[in-house]
Amino acid sequence: MKNNIQPAKGKLGILIPGLGAVATTLIAGVEAVKKGISQPIGSLTQMGHIRLGKRTENRYPKIKDFVPLADLNDIVFGGWDVYEDNVYEAATNAKVLEAGLLNAIKPELEKIKPMKAAFDKNYAKNLDGTHIKQGTRQQWAEEVMADIENFKTQNGCDRIVLVWCGSTEIYYEASAIHQSLDAFEEALANDDKLISPSMIYAYAALKLGVPFANGAPNLTVDIPALIELSKLTNTPIAGKDFKTGQTLMKTILAPGLSARSLGISGWFSTNILGNRDGLVLDDPDNFKTKEVSKLGVLEDILRPEDNKELYGDIYHKIRINYYPPHGDNKESWDNIDIFGWLGYKMQIKINFLCRDSILAAPVALDLALFIDLAKRAEMSGIQEWLSFYLKSPQTLPGLRPENDIFKQLMKLQNTLRHLMGEDLITHLGLDYYQDLVEVL
Ligand SMILES: NC(=O)c1ccc[n+]([C@@H]2O[C@H](COP(=O)([O-])OP(=O)(O)OC[C@H]3O[C@@H](n4cnc5c(N)ncnc54)[C@H](O)[C@@H]3O)[C@@H](O)[C@H]2O)c1
Repeated sequence: MKNNIQPAKGKLGILIPGLGAVATTLIAGVEAVKKGISQPIGSLTQMGHIRLGKRTENRYPKIKDFVPLADLNDIVFGGWDVYEDNVYEAATNAKVLEAGLLNAIKPELEKIKPMKAAFDKNYAKNLDGTHIKQGTRQQWAEEVMADIENFKTQNGCDRIVLVWCGSTEIYYEASAIHQSLDAFEEALANDDKLISPSMIYAYAALKLGVPFANGAPNLTVDIPALIELSKLTNTPIAGKDFKTGQTLMKTILAPGLSARSLGISGWFSTNILGNRDGLVLDDPDNFKTKEVSKLGVLEDILRPEDNKELYGDIYHKIRINYYPPHGDNKESWDNIDIFGWLGYKMQIKINFLCRDSILAAPVALDLALFIDLAKRAEMSGIQEWLSFYLKSPQTLPGLRPENDIFKQLMKLQNTLRHLMGEDLITHLGLDYYQDLVEVL
């Protein structure tokens, strides 16, 4: 397998629809790391190690030294937004990073000016930007393809990936036009409003063979039409919704409780956040998309239908409230009612004072780097091994997603070992003791 991976030669363009808090925190962070003034903390590709071979071999390289990933110095950023602000202005408005840090990389950030967005206000009612493309959806798609190709030429990029960091679109379910590429293309020609803006970017990218990852919970590439297109053009896709904050904690804690067969009768999660994401999610239709994405994780981890005594009656509730004074510093509370031996009740309380975009930026970076690797390794369609980063992992229809973060990590690491021709690690470990017994 190893020989099939094309090297990460030349520049990688990371193009981002939605240059808001997450995207600007990602871009500023990478520029700061390149200048040697910050560390890429939270990024598995940059900081994480991977064990190879038997424990006795002591091989534990950094992931970026093991698999051929694009070097941060070879990354060029660009993107689209409904607002005209350049990345320096957008990062300043987002108030995630300190002015001192932003000023140290001001020239690099100012250079990045958003291209006009493919946007329909019906999909994000609380936004009123005017930096948008005119015409029909078909024309938007053609323009986005031209944007991608122009960016590639102007910046001398060898490869491009797209990572959606745009606002969460309203909740909608796939309909007939999303079921096949033919139906989708016919709808595009008819300027059908059931095609959301995020689907336009995804379609344009996939048509050009450009990998696409979705950081929001919108359907976007999670429809048969675009899965079909990704297979047709041999392009990897991944989604949906960056796993950060409260859901990250949930997928760390729930597997632990379930591993010890402890029961859970209720899990109440509430959040306050005051950034633009919070404003968009203040609209019930947009919140519904997020809620659906967040609700699935416990069921998938706990499997109440197979564990009726422990999780059959679980009450799971999620609330997100827009609270401007907190800005990007989201605060979440979880109250978890659990029960143990003989049914005795206990409680766990979590109060996570997190920084949303600080958690999301390294996730966006890793997704971009890994999906580029997937393309060079000739992998196409849904990249389930990247579900480690996602709140609502995209899987083949009928396949239950894996939300347990530890299983997701094992899947990711084994995929890397597989790609590089290393033995997969099962953690069985009996062989160490079998050898010992034979020696004795
Ligand atoms: N911050 C996190 O921890 C986190 C976690 C998971 C998912 N997400 C998702 O990531 C996305 C970005 O989050 P954020 O905090 O950066 O939000 P944000 O509101 O700061 O940024 C989103 C940007 O997208 C732009 N936009 C909206 N529609 C667009 C379109 N059609 N084309 C181009 N640009 C468009 C908006 O103008 C805005 O600047 C949201 O969907 C959010 O739900 C964020």
